[in-house]
Amino acid sequence: MSNLSKDIEEILITEEQLKEKVAEMGRIITKDYEGKNLMLICILKGAATFMSDLSRAIDLPLSIDFMAVSSYGCSTCSSGIVKIIKDLDMSIEKKDVLIVEDIIDSGLTLSYLRRTLLGRKPNSLKICTILDKPERRETHVKVDYSGFKIPDRFVVGYGLDFDEKYRNLPYIGVLKPELYN
Ligand code: XMP
Ligand code: MG
Repeated sequence: MSNLSKDIEEILITEEQLKEKVAEMGRIITKDYEGKNLMLICILKGAATFMSDLSRAIDLPLSIDFMAVSSYGCSTCSSGIVKIIKDLDMSIEKKDVLIVEDIIDSGLTLSYLRRTLLGRKPNSLKICTILDKPERRETHVKVDYSGFKIPDRFVVGYGLDFDEKYRNLPYIGVLKPELYN
């Protein structure tokens, strides 16, 4: 067993399942954005792995930019107050913007991002997440492209971290409880 895998209690989504899903999402997005001015916005750091795979599964000319946000409050819950740590480098005016996020949980982060980015006059704005925890939603946000629905458990891997670690796990898993302490 690998050094990383020995810390994992359960695998929720395998590397193979992720690969298939991202390829499928890429095909759908390619169809939907043909002839448009597609710009992917990666929400750092969690979505970096998904963004890297998804962008290569989209067969269209597109641009990429990055944004980092943090929500005040504890590390495993969301307060709804979101702070921009790193803003976009490029203007999104007249662009067909697709926000690429790792997970939608309470929905507060994406709801804030949606409002903020709409104020910058994109031609269109949609949301794409690889994971969704529907049980935890506090505010309604329309997710246009969604990968997997997962139960209310704290997950790591494929970009998602615990204490900045485990982002490089190639699958989505749940940590052994003793590692949280
Ligand atoms: P909201 O609640 O605003 O939050 O939709 C989305 C952000 O919360 C983090 N998050 C997680 N991070 N494992 C993680 O590593 C999880 O199970 C998890 N659930 C929520 C994540 O940063 C996401 O962007
Ligand atoms: Mg995140």
